[in-house]
Amino acid sequence: MSASPFRDDLLSGRVALVTGGGTGIGLATARELARQGATVVIASRKAENVLPAAAGLSAELGRPVHGLVLDIRDRERIAAAVGELLETHGGIDILVNNGGGQYLSSAEQISARGWDAVIATNLTGTWELTREVARRSMLARGGSVVNVTMLTARGFPGMAHSVAARAGVEGLTRTLAVEWATAGIRVNCVAPGIIASSGLNNYPAGLSLGRQMQSTIPMKRLGSCEETAWAIAFLAGPVGSYITGQTLTVDGGRSLWGDGWPIPDPEELPEVVLPKNPWEE
Ligand SMILES: NC(=O)c1ccc[n+]([C@@H]2O[C@H](COP(=O)([O-])OP(=O)(O)OC[C@H]3O[C@@H](n4cnc5c(N)ncnc54)[C@H](OP(=O)(O)O)[C@@H]3O)[C@@H](O)[C@H]2O)c1
Repeated sequence: MSASPFRDDLLSGRVALVTGGGTGIGLATARELARQGATVVIASRKAENVLPAAAGLSAELGRPVHGLVLDIRDRERIAAAVGELLETHGGIDILVNNGGGQYLSSAEQISARGWDAVIATNLTGTWELTREVARRSMLARGGSVVNVTMLTARGFPGMAHSVAARAGVEGLTRTLAVEWATAGIRVNCVAPGIIASSGLNNYPAGLSLGRQMQSTIPMKRLGSCEETAWAIAFLAGPVGSYITGQTLTVDGGRSLWGDGWPIPDPEELPEVVLPKNPWEE
């Protein structure tokens, strides 16, 4: 774990909700926001992820970090959970929509159910929670939303469902940033490249795939959860006070260069023919 570059009282008095805060990038973000003085609530589906992480962070930091069991695909539970949070903490100043996930599949093999599940988690769940937090807290007192997406600018074979959802979140982000600007709400995205996180274990041979992918990254290494968390904290807090509607890419240069995913060559590559003018025949 690297030392944080941020001052430790930047977020004193703020309340932050981090989805997917029990593992990986979300956990590193929760740690960073709490270390900067925020009251942090981490939320995800599985009690076995959030509750030990909340207890562990509380012990590590010497201040309470709260755990909340919440599936962001469950609208009713979102409404109830936001209500509980507001009752306990009075408001929500920072929302980090980091909870999400997908599975690798060639586009044509994604089932209707698989597509719906990935969109429900990564696009609709992000929207439903953001809307609830905005309506019941941020539209009255301002706030900052950071959505964790993925690299969406180039093709991302194997991830058609998720890249569609994340590009949707990026479009939503730009629109909300404009609609809610005068309410004092900033909305931004952080788009991670390949990060050495627990998330890699969700893929067959995830770790060896990660090692292999290092050579496709100009910086020749994977990013860390802390490096991603710093970008999230930068946008969430006062350092990002004049930034809204943006996507900050955290990828060691990966989106600028190289093969993201090997695409097999056909048996024969076409001959390269240079054009000639008719008078040159
Ligand atoms: N690591 C990378 O290279 C990378 C690259 C691009 C984007 N990302 C994105 O960054 C985010 C964090 O990923 P990570 O690498 O830290 O992986 P991770 O450890 O698998 O984190 C995903 C988190 O989301 C939570 N989650 C999943 N579905 C949820 C739901 N329906 N409701 C609430 N929480 C839910 C999970 O907890 P529960 O299982 O307890 O719900 C888990 O804590 C994800 O959105 C991921 O897709 C990661």
